[in-house]
Amino acid sequence: MHQNDTPPAPDLFTWEFAADPYPAYAWLREHSPVHRTTLPSGVEAWLVTRYADARQALADQRLSKNPVHHSEQAAHGKGKTGIPGERSANLMTHLLNIDPPDHTRLRRLVSKAFTPGRVAEFAPRVQELTDRLIDGFADKGEADLIHEFAFPLPIYAICDMLGVPPEDQDDFRDWAGMMIRHGGGPRGGVARSVKKMRGYLAELIHRKRNEPGEDLISGLIRASDHGEHLTENEAAAMAFILLFAGFETTVNLIGNGTYALLRNPDQRERLQNALAEGDESLLATGVEELLRYDGPVELATWRFATRALTLGGQRIAEGDPVLVVLAAADRDPERFADPDTLDLARRDNQHLGYGHGIHYCLGAPLARLEGRTALATLLRRLPDLRLAADPEDLRWRGGLIMRGLRTLPVEFTPEA
Ligand code: HEM
Repeated sequence: MHQNDTPPAPDLFTWEFAADPYPAYAWLREHSPVHRTTLPSGVEAWLVTRYADARQALADQRLSKNPVHHSEQAAHGKGKTGIPGERSANLMTHLLNIDPPDHTRLRRLVSKAFTPGRVAEFAPRVQELTDRLIDGFADKGEADLIHEFAFPLPIYAICDMLGVPPEDQDDFRDWAGMMIRHGGGPRGGVARSVKKMRGYLAELIHRKRNEPGEDLISGLIRASDHGEHLTENEAAAMAFILLFAGFETTVNLIGNGTYALLRNPDQRERLQNALAEGDESLLATGVEELLRYDGPVELATWRFATRALTLGGQRIAEGDPVLVVLAAADRDPERFADPDTLDLARRDNQHLGYGHGIHYCLGAPLARLEGRTALATLLRRLPDLRLAADPEDLRWRGGLIMRGLRTLPVEFTPEA
């Protein structure tokens, strides 16, 4: 029953919503915290928006990641709903689409190769890539930070880590560009890009088997040769998910993060002053806060109820899809003081931007390294960086899972 003073339910998934979904999320948290909705694809799903419910759902083993548990798929056969993974191309058998025990085995394998130590060793290379990209526009006085900076940095970084030779990395840049521009399911140009990437990765894995190096793909092959088995398909799917999960997310961390700093000049000045004094502690808490405040992953990836269950007082039927809205949970006033305020020094900040539970982001150490290096270097080298567009005119990508800007025009005093 709605009381008379309850404002009407907001429209979801419109352009206005994409530009600023937070008022709608506040309404959902308050009035319908586990909310049944029809997604733009026509699929019906539950949106979970309160922090406590979100955290519980992310760790709930009754919610499967495997699309075979989706009721519509069971009723209509594969691929009817457009949920990524349903078409079950080989590359889709990856960490974000599987449950234990397969998930446990594959995650253990990749964790042996993708260690925090390996990421730390990579720091000088990330700094070099960052500086090289800024060199490309620093003397011009203006740039589109998405296309010239946030977009190429993560793709080159992850290609380097995986062991994709430099001469092939621009192909990846093109394929990834196609995937990010057109998003969604594997159709048309996207399908062609995925196919090319799959062919390339299969060939690269084969090559690394014969000539291993110090890269992540060689590490994966080595890990699987010592006891646990990793098929070539699984290795290709793993390389693909590392690229895919580590790419658009980091583009948006840098894009949304820079934008939030430009829109909150007091916070930006504070960070700039700290960096000028050689104090990096505000950078560390600040990147976490930017993830909480306007994180790259708006909704966690799909989950499906393997049996009927109750979440936040709401009955969910077996086979129903559940989407955990990280962006809403991370602004929940029940969990965060002044949730709509950006506070780079925030300490009590156990945000859900990297998820929670067994699917917690494997790439978080790399994302943090890239985010910190990118933001600190931008602010150091281009200290008077400013927005060169009216915020009203900026366009956000309308995708379901990710939240990010299409362009971020800036201006600054050219470097001498
Ligand atoms: C999983 C966020 C960067 C690799 C996840 C999940 C989130 C997330 C929310 C869990 C999804 C769910 O439970 O449905 C982010 C954010 C990033 C980022 C915000 C950047 C700021 C990266 C990078 C990599 C990466 C750089 C690797 C190079 C992965 C992988 C998983 C994952 C492999 C699946 C883990 C599993 O299922 O066990 N990430 N991610 N991510 N992320 Fe990230």
